This record gives sequence, structure tokens and C-alpha cells, in this order.
Amino acid sequence: MKAAVRDRYGPPQVVGITEVPMPVTRKGEVLVRVQAAALTAADARIRAARFPRGFAPFARLAFGVRRPRNKVLGSCFSGTVHSVGEGVAAFAPGDEVCGTTGISMGAHAQYLRVPAGRILSKPTAVHHRDAAGMLFGGTTALHYLRDKASLASGAKVLVNGASGAVGTNAVQLAAYLGGTVTGVTSTGNMDLVSALGARHVIDYTCTALGEIAERFDIVLDTVGNINPSAGRTLLAHNGVLLLAVANLRETVTAHGNVKVGPAPERVADMGTLLELMVNGHLVSVTDRVFDLADIVQAHERVDSGRKVGNVIITPAGD
Ligand SMILES: NC(=O)c1ccc[n+]([C@@H]2O[C@H](COP(=O)([O-])OP(=O)(O)OC[C@H]3O[C@@H](n4cnc5c(N)ncnc54)[C@H](OP(=O)(O)O)[C@@H]3O)[C@@H](O)[C@H]2O)c1
Repeated sequence: MKAAVRDRYGPPQVVGITEVPMPVTRKGEVLVRVQAAALTAADARIRAARFPRGFAPFARLAFGVRRPRNKVLGSCFSGTVHSVGEGVAAFAPGDEVCGTTGISMGAHAQYLRVPAGRILSKPTAVHHRDAAGMLFGGTTALHYLRDKASLASGAKVLVNGASGAVGTNAVQLAAYLGGTVTGVTSTGNMDLVSALGARHVIDYTCTALGEIAERFDIVLDTVGNINPSAGRTLLAHNGVLLLAVANLRETVTAHGNVKVGPAPERVADMGTLLELMVNGHLVSVTDRVFDLADIVQAHERVDSGRKVGNVIITPAGD
């Protein structure tokens, strides 16, 4: 099978398409033919070993100190079950499924071996590329807004980076949960952010974050340009500051109403998000779809920092 393989850290060009052996399922695992996989900001970070300040030693221990331990990136996918390993009763060949891999990754390939407990059925009403696209930003936004901030109806919510993978989901979920959303984005993405449910949209090319006069119950930063002290000034009394991007110092010193940390990959949350998609409450925004063969261009697009929603690759070629 074909896979997007890299054996060193570096720019998009370190990734190349290579013929590799088909994975063999072990007990409790499922082999998925990958119809769509997201190429996320995390994939690009791991590829380049470009981690938030202070995290590099820990990240390299997890992903490979000198060279990548797992050569194929990609952790969010949607596809069709090809075969199942011993003891898997919940899925059968032909089932349409989606899920995440955790740090083992490997979804930028035609086939992916994954524990059965990491996948769930994909509703037929949701396209593979939308399912794969929603998983990264959707689970993150849900975790921060619902679990860390306990978003309640009527809350005033600021989403900084409203057009990214996390931001597009955060705007929609905050509005769905009853929040009044203000999105921060650039001029060209204002209409999109508004259409996703933001009541107010701030163009950061015209208005700096420090010039925003309004105060919010929840501020979610998905860009990494809000530090705790600047973020606190945007908060209303008892407001919560959510930093999806935080350096090591901000992470270890975060306390009280400043929340940081990795979002868990929970199948139950993915189910919640798929249901919202089926019911028309959540859409997955796709920036571009790339063939697996165009993996370098796909990485370049993510590295641009300008993608709108999700970059998707289609390893199975359909
Ligand atoms: N803590 C966690 O568990 C967790 C989970 C997922 C992601 N993350 C992190 O969250 C970050 C965002 O991820 P993502 O996938 O959403 O990224 P992304 O999709 O690559 O974000 C790109 C978007 O950021 C916007 N942007 C860039 N500079 C901006 C600025 N100054 N103000 C407002 N918007 C700006 C861009 O819009 P314009 O083109 O309009 O500027 C673009 O649409 C990444 O660093 C990722 O590692 C953390």
C-alpha cells in the first residue's frame, strides 16, 4: 500500500509517498481503508518538530528523540473497515467508521490499523471528508467549551482564531450551546465566521486584541497570541480563559480560571459531534482536499497558517 512516509523532522519536503507493507491486524484491532484523513496543525507541528516553547524535550521523547518513531503522520480519519482482528465483534468489513489514533498516528496511508475502541460508526449522512475534518477541531472545541468552561446559555464567548480547524468548530458549538459568540479573524474570513454563528466578528487586521472593549465570560485562544495576563483583561467577572495553545511555563502555572492542556480523544465526544452534524447543527469546513500524492503541497498549505477549517487528504483515491 502507499503511505506518506518521513524518516526525519523537517519541512514539508521530508514527506514522500512510499510503498510499504499492509498492516496486519492484531487482537482487538481493525484495519481501515482510509478514505479521508485530516492533515492537522498537530501533524505539521510533529513533522517539523515545532512544539510550543519548553515542550520540545517531552515531545521528542514521545515522538522520537533524533528521528520520528512513527514514520506516517495522521491521527484523524474516516474510511471503511477492510478486516477485523480476533475478538472484534462491534465492527465488520464494509462498515463505515471514523476515529482517531492518538500518538501512534498512521492515517496518511491507504490502510490504517487501529484499536477497535478508538473508532465509531460514521453515519451515512456525513461524508468521509467531513467526519475526518471534524474530529480534531470538534473534540478540542467541545472539550474546552463544554468541559473546561461549562459554557451555559447566555454566555458571551470570544473565539480567537475563528477560521481555523478548532475555531470553526468552536464558533458553531459555542453558538449551539447558547453562547453569544464574537469571532476574531482576518478580513477575508469574516463572512464565513458570521455564517457559522458568530454574532460579532472582529477583523484582527484592523483591531488589535488589546483594543477590544467588550468583556467576555469565556475567551478561547486557538492562535497562541494571548498570554494569561493579556487574556485576563478580556474577561468579565468570573470569566474563564481557555488557551488551546500554551507554552510549558503557561501550562505549569495555569490555575483558577486559566485552563490549558491537551483535549482527550473520546469516542463518546466524537459521537456527540457526528450527531450534531447529522442534525444540521455542525458543519465541517474544508479548506482543500488533496490526493495522497500531493502530500507535500498539503503540508505547505497547513504550514501557511492560513488554512480555513480543515485540510483533507484522500489516501484511498475515492
Ligand atoms: N490543546 C489541545 O488539545 C489542542 C488541540 C487541537 C489544536 N491545538 C492547537 O490549536 C492551534 C490551532 O489549531 P487549528 O487546527 O485550529 O489551527 P489552523 O486551522 O492551522 O489555524 C489556522 C487559522 O488561524 C487563523 N489565524 C492565524 N493568525 C491569526 C490571528 N492573529 N488572529 C486570528 N486568527 C488567526 C487563520 O486565519 P486568517 O488566515 O484569517 O489569519 C487560519 O484560518 C494549533 O496550535 C494546535 O496545535 C491544541
